[in-house]
Amino acid sequence: MAPILRVDGLTKYFSGLAALKEVSFETEEGQICGLIGPNGAGKTTLFSIIACALRPTSGTVLFKGRDFTGSKSFHAVKAGIVRTHQIARPFRSMTVLENVEVAGCFGQRRSSGNVRKQAMKVLEWAGLDHLSSASAGTLSVGDLKRLELARTLATQPSLLLCDEVCSGLTESETRAVLDLLRRMRELGTTIIYVEHNLKAIMAVCERVIVLNFGRKLAEGTPEAMQNDPSVIEAYIGKPASV
Ligand SMILES: Nc1ncnc2c1ncn2[C@@H]1O[C@H](COP(=O)(O)OP(=O)(O)OP(=O)(O)O)[C@@H](O)[C@H]1O
Ligand SMILES: [Mg+2]
Repeated sequence: MAPILRVDGLTKYFSGLAALKEVSFETEEGQICGLIGPNGAGKTTLFSIIACALRPTSGTVLFKGRDFTGSKSFHAVKAGIVRTHQIARPFRSMTVLENVEVAGCFGQRRSSGNVRKQAMKVLEWAGLDHLSSASAGTLSVGDLKRLELARTLATQPSLLLCDEVCSGLTESETRAVLDLLRRMRELGTTIIYVEHNLKAIMAVCERVIVLNFGRKLAEGTPEAMQNDPSVIEAYIGKPASV
């Protein structure tokens, strides 16, 4: 089967700094693919390029066989590429329901029929229906993360780029969010999932890509990555020589 996403030789320089260097990988449709790496490894930069919020210095992004390199974010969303942000960005003065309604007006399959009804369905799905009339600015961190996912879900994405949706959450909130990701996959969404919490990555991903200093360090099953000496070294550093 052809991959849903193929990135080839992505490089991104910010002034003199290489945030990404020659990164290539493919993602199969229907997978949850983990993307891990220490702070500053280039994970969010990679998401920004795939979501067309940033233009790479070089390299290409192919989505469903179409070249999206350097395209506009609006076109990416229309094609089904949607991202969550590391720091949730709801319309704070709007209600939770209104936030999801607005999102439902974008995406590849614009909701037909009653937008409000669709948005309520999404909120129920995300376990936020009891907060539908609350102002988004008053939500807890856990509920904000769920709202961030609900807003992406309302666009009916084909590819979801999920950036640290579980950071700052309690264990039971994390379980609930991971459950949501699994259910999104069941509905046909392919997911690339960035998270520092390796337990969360191991719980939902079929495959993991490891970035370090902007380069792809390794790629494989979660188990293989967990036991890979170069990955362990990148995370905890070289053991001090005696
Ligand atoms: N807009 C920007 N301008 C200049 N430098 C940037 C910009 N965005 C990211 N960088 C730099 O690029 C490198 C990669 O950053 P990025 O945010 O992609 O890392 P990350 O893997 O997402 O890190 P974290 O785990 O902390 O979220 C870092 O050195 C960062 O400081
Ligand atoms: Mg980041």
